[in-house]
Amino acid sequence: MSDHATLTVNGITVELPILRGSCGEPAIDITTLTAQTGYLAYDPGFGNTASCRSAITWIDGDHGILRYRGIPIEQFATKPNFVEVAWLLIFGRLPTTPELKDFSAKLTANAHLHEGLRHHFEGFPVDAPPMAILSAMINAKGCFEDDFLSSDDQQFEDAAARLISKVRTIAAYAYRRAKGLPVIYPDPKLRYIANMLHMMFSMPYDQYVIDPDIEAALNLIFILHADHEQNCSTATVRMVGSSHANLFASAAAGVCALWGPLHGGANVAVIDMLEAIHRGGLSPEDVIRRAKDKSSGFRLMGFGHRVYKNYDPRATMLRDISERIFTKLNRQDPLLDIARKLEALALADPYFVERRLYPNVDFYSGIIFRAIGIPTDMFTVMFAIGRLPGWIAHWKEQHDQPGGRIARPRQVYTGPDLTNYTPIDQRPAPAG
Ligand code: ACO
Repeated sequence: MSDHATLTVNGITVELPILRGSCGEPAIDITTLTAQTGYLAYDPGFGNTASCRSAITWIDGDHGILRYRGIPIEQFATKPNFVEVAWLLIFGRLPTTPELKDFSAKLTANAHLHEGLRHHFEGFPVDAPPMAILSAMINAKGCFEDDFLSSDDQQFEDAAARLISKVRTIAAYAYRRAKGLPVIYPDPKLRYIANMLHMMFSMPYDQYVIDPDIEAALNLIFILHADHEQNCSTATVRMVGSSHANLFASAAAGVCALWGPLHGGANVAVIDMLEAIHRGGLSPEDVIRRAKDKSSGFRLMGFGHRVYKNYDPRATMLRDISERIFTKLNRQDPLLDIARKLEALALADPYFVERRLYPNVDFYSGIIFRAIGIPTDMFTVMFAIGRLPGWIAHWKEQHDQPGGRIARPRQVYTGPDLTNYTPIDQRPAPAG
């Protein structure tokens, strides 16, 4: 196979090196394209652009494969330990028992929020979107971390532990504030997920009883969300981090990117869509019709993916979890039946088949969160807690790579050519 690509443009021929990823995917290195030819590469949405080299997560979208540091995602199904996976993603290998113990101890020791930080919650309206609160509070947390040096490995590990630990405290406090409920402090005796459930659902006079099956399901859900290479929020974290912004500012930006309904916010949009069908007036067939009609501006939420052109392996695992949880809780949810019907309709419809649109991670996650008792506006917050280790891993990888450049894409300018300034009294009235 050739080690370079030849491009001829406007009479100039350039040879561009071919790079190969460790699992064989080829890429044309266009680093010198503009300098050599004067041409830019145009790639809106970056669908063809590898923006970095990364050793964290590998996806084969055609075959529905996802691996964290080389380990297939399915291998985490029976040994769910979110903290272990977080360590793997951030530090590049599975931790030893002392390393995991030490990191878990750091999470436990750092679960509380600085009392000064706690008062920030009072400034938000009670109906503030929890994703806005999460982003603002992670950024605010950075103000209490002014001694953090990204160049010091030990300080980095401590800061990562503080962020992973405190994010669930922030999430729980945002929830309690929205409900007008008293704040519940973390309990050092509880594990990571159990502590989050305790802070969300216990009362001062009534300890929330943690069901180990629910704890295990949430553990696995968080693992499934933990990283996904250069998705919109991770690319945002790297974009912000590329200017040497600190870990907290970069992660806060990631939360904002995740919030949108085309990304993590899709888990809320899916439930809104299923509820609209359940309320009546709109059938699953109507929804499929609208999704196919480009003029409707509507999409089948929880379907489609930039990289997966096959079943998203996370969606398969989430569907299994949903079945386990509903059986365990001995509960029925009409939304689950509607979701299954929509999935069957879409997978049999030529529109979705031809475009290779399958359920993604958001299609079933909301139904599981609902069954567990997590309110809809906290779904994307749950996604953010799960994705945080991935963001931290990418921020660290970027920092550790020598010669990193600030992320600064170019554009194809489509505005007016050279135009002279017109004094205000000589400007024509706008047409219409
Ligand atoms: N419903 C209907 N049509 C769709 C959908 C959908 N959910 N997704 C893609 N398409 C169509 C597009 O209209 C396009 O059709 P065309 O070729 O006739 O123009 C074709 O499929 C390709 O779609 P793109 O928009 O090019 O796909 P892209 O990679 O840009 O977008 C995205 C991916 C944003 C996930 C898209 O599939 C989508 O909007 N899905 C719904 C929202 C969603 O579930 N987001 C969560 C994604 S997973 C995550 O971020 C955690």
